[in-house]
Amino acid sequence: LMIVIDFGGQYNQLVARRVRENQVYCEIYSYKTDIEKIKAMHPKGIILTGGPDSCYVEGAATYSKELFNLGIPVLGLCYGAQLMQHLLGGKVERADFREYGKTNVHFDTTSPLFKDLKEDSVVWMSHFDYISQLGPNFKSIAHSENCPVAAFESTDDRQLYGIQFHPEVLHTEQGTEMIRNFVVNVCHFSQDWIMANFVDEQIKAIREKVGDGKVLCALSGGVDSSVAAVLLSKAVGKQLTCVFVDHGLLRKNEGDEVEAVFGPEGPYDLNFIRVDAASRYYEKLKGVTEPERKRKIIGEEFIRVFEEEAKKIGAVDFLVQGTIYPDVVESGLGGESAVIKSHHNVGGLPDYVDFKEIVEPLRNLFKDEVRKVGLELGIPEYLVFRQPFPGPGLGIRIIGEVTPEKVRIVQDADAIYREEIAKAGLDRSIGQYFAALTNMRSVGVMGDERTYDYAIALRAVNTIDFMTAEAANIPFDVLSTVMSRIINEVRGVNRVMYDITSKPPGTIEFE
Ligand code: XMP
Repeated sequence: LMIVIDFGGQYNQLVARRVRENQVYCEIYSYKTDIEKIKAMHPKGIILTGGPDSCYVEGAATYSKELFNLGIPVLGLCYGAQLMQHLLGGKVERADFREYGKTNVHFDTTSPLFKDLKEDSVVWMSHFDYISQLGPNFKSIAHSENCPVAAFESTDDRQLYGIQFHPEVLHTEQGTEMIRNFVVNVCHFSQDWIMANFVDEQIKAIREKVGDGKVLCALSGGVDSSVAAVLLSKAVGKQLTCVFVDHGLLRKNEGDEVEAVFGPEGPYDLNFIRVDAASRYYEKLKGVTEPERKRKIIGEEFIRVFEEEAKKIGAVDFLVQGTIYPDVVESGLGGESAVIKSHHNVGGLPDYVDFKEIVEPLRNLFKDEVRKVGLELGIPEYLVFRQPFPGPGLGIRIIGEVTPEKVRIVQDADAIYREEIAKAGLDRSIGQYFAALTNMRSVGVMGDERTYDYAIALRAVNTIDFMTAEAANIPFDVLSTVMSRIINEVRGVNRVMYDITSKPPGTIEFE
């Protein structure tokens, strides 16, 4: 186990992901975690992350000095490196110039941290403070023009290392190699964190936990719930019941696709219940135009439908949740950052489903690892690589009132858009893309006739974390093809627009 101690920097999850790319399991803990707890986990290596503080300021995030005497290799990154020096006799000061962005650095490649690297390369710097003097028994192993200590190591046998820049971000050339060097050359991990092992271990663990209990899963057809359901099915077979609520706001044919995989004709051993609740939803949404009201109605109705089904099934022992590691870290249970994206959950846990305990088989995985597990389990690629689809579905991709007619229009337009994007080979490179139905109608001409129809908006964004995004630069001829197909094939549309707004100021969805 590698432990990442989180000081509140913006790249903390990235650090953990980069470690795991080396087939080494890694968990994130806040700097507020007691050292006894860290010791009890017997980590083979520790990484201290960056953070927003200045370590010499009263009340700044800090850690027990004992951490550096455990005989465990420690690597400090940015703030982590400064803090290590601050605690071990070095000096950290405010620099005259803030170093920010791509910077040339010269490396001492005799250090195990920089073994087999080029001596000069570009790194990503972002700091106000710098290490002006190293503590006893440390030496500098990298420098830039303005930064005499861009990296350091201990000269005795403590195996302490620090890096002022950010090897975890891709702007740092050779950053991947530096992290690998720490993991392999310094900590000597055995690199056996692979998803095939994870699957075997999880299946065993689930069997132990569940015994002969009954398990209930709300299946959305999204990546996380699909992978969780298949793991459970492999572990306990028909003890698992999946309830799939089709709210009539899914993409074209999606309900049938989910049923084809998880239903009785599919390859998995489980009980599958599909609830066709479309008309209930349409009824509830009649006349409602306000986006937040729509979200709320869709979320509440989901819980109601799910609960009704759960009541028919009766008491169960376990409820499956598709929680993944970023949810754990972001809700403050793991790391330091405490952002909770409440609007991204369909509506929380159903209140009175009768269950004893929650099972969260994906709780320790990042999204890319969930996908690997999905492939490992033989789940079809179109499910595994599905793009994010919001809980309220097309309900928030139809501006204004939702009607069955508008749902049909946006489904058909979106299906054409996705088909053409895939044909152009862009489906894996664009972060998220979809068609939405604007509530605008305008005059057009088709054949010799005047039309007065809806405008479809096409959206495609590239994003790292969905918090910010930029419109994707789709080739114009691809857009043209999509436009003419939508106009020709989808009744009720006479205009197609491409949304070039970034986020901010726009959001990714329209509502
Ligand atoms: P926005 O529109 O906030 O979207 O820029 C960011 C990401 O979140 C998804 N999204 C949602 N997901 N329930 C969800 O489960 C929601 O209510 C919701 N709203 C937005 C959106 O698809 C994008 O990936």
